[in-house]
Amino acid sequence: MLELPLLRLPFQVQMEITDICNLRCSHCYHFDTGNMPRSNDLIDNNFFRLVQKMIDNRIYSIVFTGGEPLMRPKTLIKAIEMVKVAGLQVSINTNLLLLTPQLLAEFKNLMVDSFLVSCPASEPDVYKKITCLGQYSIFSKKLEMLLKAGFPSQINMVVTRTNYPFIRSTATDMAKRGVKNFSVTPACLNVDHPDLKSLLSEKQTSTVLEDLRWCADTLGLKVDTLVALPKCFFPEWWWKRDPLLFKNRTCQAGRMSASISNVGDVRPCPHNPIIYGNLFQESMEQIWDKMVVYRNDGTIPGVCKNCPSVEFCRGACRTNALAVTGKLNEPDRLTVGHVNLPKKERKSIVFDENSVVKFRGKLRWRNEFEGHYSITSKKSGGNLIIVNAEMLRFMSWLEKSLPLTVKSLVEKSASGSADAAFVEIVETLIRKEFISVS
Ligand SMILES: C[S@@+](CC[C@H](N)C(=O)[O-])C[C@H]1O[C@@H](n2cnc3c(N)ncnc32)[C@H](O)[C@@H]1O
Ligand code: SF4
Ligand code: SF4
Repeated sequence: MLELPLLRLPFQVQMEITDICNLRCSHCYHFDTGNMPRSNDLIDNNFFRLVQKMIDNRIYSIVFTGGEPLMRPKTLIKAIEMVKVAGLQVSINTNLLLLTPQLLAEFKNLMVDSFLVSCPASEPDVYKKITCLGQYSIFSKKLEMLLKAGFPSQINMVVTRTNYPFIRSTATDMAKRGVKNFSVTPACLNVDHPDLKSLLSEKQTSTVLEDLRWCADTLGLKVDTLVALPKCFFPEWWWKRDPLLFKNRTCQAGRMSASISNVGDVRPCPHNPIIYGNLFQESMEQIWDKMVVYRNDGTIPGVCKNCPSVEFCRGACRTNALAVTGKLNEPDRLTVGHVNLPKKERKSIVFDENSVVKFRGKLRWRNEFEGHYSITSKKSGGNLIIVNAEMLRFMSWLEKSLPLTVKSLVEKSASGSADAAFVEIVETLIRKEFISVS
């Protein structure tokens, strides 16, 4: 089993269904919101051709984003339907203001897996100041509708100098409304229109970390941040408090994920403006090949190469480095220097022949390279591993045959004995959360 997923294609793609937006957020990395472009969205049939390409390529997960995806509701619903029928995971990034009861019912019917909802502040004046065209009173009603419908959802508060003092108050308001997952994302620069004046200073970014910790400890929120910050930027207390929180928040652009624009251009992430090809001219695989620099060490800054934490960090968000320095392989502006992250003790796994083994989630797989397959059973792909054909057959058999006791599992498996190799496989599958033992 290989743990490093050198994928033939992305695990996830973000599809920008439209370049139209109902808001003009001052921090938006997507638009120069003071000078919005005229829309050049594809007609529906061409957009559906792109969606079909993702299905044919066995991409595991699609995020519909924009612009604002709810600006094209009919196209969105049809695209979700195509993707769900094919068995892919679907989530929607939205500012929520255009949600209607009818749309919500369609989402429920189609079993959309999750929502990422933008909310820059719960103070109406600050919300208005940042979004220009939005009203918090409308947002809060739409959020209530979404939460009532019971969809897994996460609030994303992008922070600049304007709204970072409002993190705790916004989180408190969200928690009162029943939000469980709250992320605070220090705004990335818009590469083509960098607004350096709004960017958080080092000290302000440190207070964001303190606020996030406060949100988790005081409000019981599950906290996150959607940008990869340098691991060496985090204060020591952070890792002592919880050695895992954000440890694996590594930039996945061009490694696990890619973005497709509203005209079929492919980029490593929504924030990165470099176009590697267009899906009406080349296949996804050809374009993904051209992004290999993100998967080998080509974008890792020189100063990071010998860092003990480089495996988890890779020098943080490469597009932020591009925005500030003009180069993908320059250090992040918040990089401090090498750091040793504390190692989390591996919990020992205890089971005997009467323990019951169960399969977790649903097995999904696709061919990667030369008889190797990626497999996952988690919506996020957080347990993605590469296996050979024999192991894939074993996993499919496990999915069909479990639950079984360890004794029956050993008897029925090809090896017929619980030798060291068998135990190692079972332990890895437990650690990777494919199976559980009780
Ligand atoms: C570009 S928006 C498109 C979807 C939708 N209009 C929305 O705002 O949710 C996708 C995500 O990017 C986030 N975002 C926008 N500008 C950002 C920035 N400068 N840095 C980090 N995240 C940003 C938004 O908050 C949202 O969660
Ligand atoms: S709502 Fe989303 S796409 Fe629209 S301006 Fe705000 S962040 Fe950008
Ligand atoms: S030195 Fe580089 S790789 Fe190491 S933690 Fe800092 S940014 Fe990350």
